[in-house]
Amino acid sequence: MEQSARPHGRADPAAIGSDFSEALIAGLSAPQKSIPSRFLYDAAGSALFEKITTLPEYYPTRTETDILRYQAEEIAAIVPAGAVLVEFGSGSSTKTELLLERMDKLHAYVPIDISSAALRDAKARIAERFPELLVMPIEADFAQPIVMPPEFSARPLFGFFPGSTIGNSRPIDAVALLASMRRTLGPDAHLIIGADLKKNVRRLLAAYDDADGVTAAFNLNLLARANRELGANFKLDQFKHSATYDMRNGRIDMHLVSLREQWVDVGGHRFHFDAGEQIHTEHSHKYEIEGFHTLVSEAGWRPQVVWTDAERLFSVHVLIADV
Ligand code: TRP
Repeated sequence: MEQSARPHGRADPAAIGSDFSEALIAGLSAPQKSIPSRFLYDAAGSALFEKITTLPEYYPTRTETDILRYQAEEIAAIVPAGAVLVEFGSGSSTKTELLLERMDKLHAYVPIDISSAALRDAKARIAERFPELLVMPIEADFAQPIVMPPEFSARPLFGFFPGSTIGNSRPIDAVALLASMRRTLGPDAHLIIGADLKKNVRRLLAAYDDADGVTAAFNLNLLARANRELGANFKLDQFKHSATYDMRNGRIDMHLVSLREQWVDVGGHRFHFDAGEQIHTEHSHKYEIEGFHTLVSEAGWRPQVVWTDAERLFSVHVLIADV
């Protein structure tokens, strides 16, 4: 465990466990059942997600990585000497290395993630590769307000939020999240953010329902996790993964669908499922560049640069905190 993470993050595993149980019971009690998507990323889920990022159908990771690799020099030129790079939902920190390679005047790197295993691995790898760089992980849910270590308060903070994770919030929540990041990062902040673009629906659907079933396993891990951690009795072969595109809202919706009428016990509660009933687990919103600019402006960020790939699949933006 990273000692430095404790004072800043919500790192008490018991608290996280009861959080899951409360959220699951509340989510399954509502007329439209749902499970909050942050619970997808336990150790097993984080490993499955890493596998998703390498699938042929899942274009976002490699497209964004190519854009970052191509623009790394230009990004590094914007980052002032002595700055701190703060990554929201850092996972394996793979894309970050492309930036760190060029940012030789950086003071520190602060990866924020809810997976302590992912933070531990990333810290070890990055500290070894960049021995001069201070690496200070924070184990926390980035959707909660984050308190930066006070020793960084006088330094320019550079946020990094790749992966189109912003698309996993509804626009109204995305604005609140971006405003909260702006408060976390302070008045002179920049934010580098990836946003997936609208495109051919078949291409989108394939990215969220791959032929090898890795995405299905990732989604179903929510139920497996409930069985492991909370003693629930979900029968994993009685639910299936589904991904659909909602044209009106411009988003992929992920569900777990009950394959028959059934009952499931979770922590002393019984839940009834109709055949075909869905548990909503994730949204993934797709943007047009103009619409994304409007969204970030509402959160107090000014678009400075945007890059896309040749096929216009994905966009990477540099934003400046508006004063
Ligand atoms: N940020 C990723 C995205 O929206 C998360 C993601 C990819 C995801 N595949 C998923 C979430 C499948 C749930 C299920 O692209």
